[in-house]
Amino acid sequence: MSAGQRPGRPVIPGHVAIIMDGNGRWAQMRGLPRQEGHRRGLEALRCAVRNAGDLGVRILTLYSFSTENWRRPATEVSFLLGLLKRFVEKDLGELHSAGVRVRIIGGRDDLAPDLRRLVEHAEAVTRDNTHMTLVVAFNYGSRDEIVRAARQLAADAAAGRIDPAAIDEGVLAARLDTVDIPDPELVIRTSGETRVSNFLLWQAAYSEFVFTPVLWPDFDRAAFEDALAEYGRRERRFGGLSEPSDRAAGAA
Ligand code: FPP
Repeated sequence: MSAGQRPGRPVIPGHVAIIMDGNGRWAQMRGLPRQEGHRRGLEALRCAVRNAGDLGVRILTLYSFSTENWRRPATEVSFLLGLLKRFVEKDLGELHSAGVRVRIIGGRDDLAPDLRRLVEHAEAVTRDNTHMTLVVAFNYGSRDEIVRAARQLAADAAAGRIDPAAIDEGVLAARLDTVDIPDPELVIRTSGETRVSNFLLWQAAYSEFVFTPVLWPDFDRAAFEDALAEYGRRERRFGGLSEPSDRAAGAA
């Protein structure tokens, strides 16, 4: 056990969230089109889900498409939308058999009706699975998520359904897309970039961050284990002097 690690806290975090970055550079380094990087990125995503399950991670959140990604060239945007569709269509059966519960976070109103129906079908089919939860952040941006939650609360307050004085952290958190999902203990970003990029700003308030130079298509089991080992060496303080067991479920 390392110096910063406390007895009783499992080294494996319950919830790991990943900013999957570097598909474009991976392709560029090989003289391949960016799309090939994303295709290989989808393979790495499948591996990460299997590895998370094997390593004992109970919840894996993957940043697959941000609210800012719509600004990319139309061909790349439609390729990424197609990848999500292909992933859900092809992998749903296998995920369901493996006991994986699928959740999608992000704004749904901008999705085409067929894609929206598909992701809602995946959520409905897998809702009772308990082996692990895969949260796919698609058309996701934290600021957008918080604005949508604030708008709902404002509407409820205006209609007299909620007293503004009763709005606290728990009430706001219950309006976020991540309702019922414990906060991530660990956020990993690949590709050497060290930004948060509008990902889980509320939920990652007390998360540990691990930045790895590995490009996402190369993020294999060894890279995953390295990130978990780095997490195991951290001492989490939550702003206090010790690690409370009642914050960020699964942390203690
Ligand atoms: C960042 O790499 C990655 C993305 C914007 C998309 C992530 C998508 C995948 C991992 C493929 C699976 C996708 C879905 C929808 C299930 P980048 O293109 O920004 O890389 P760069 O910074 O090197 O250009």
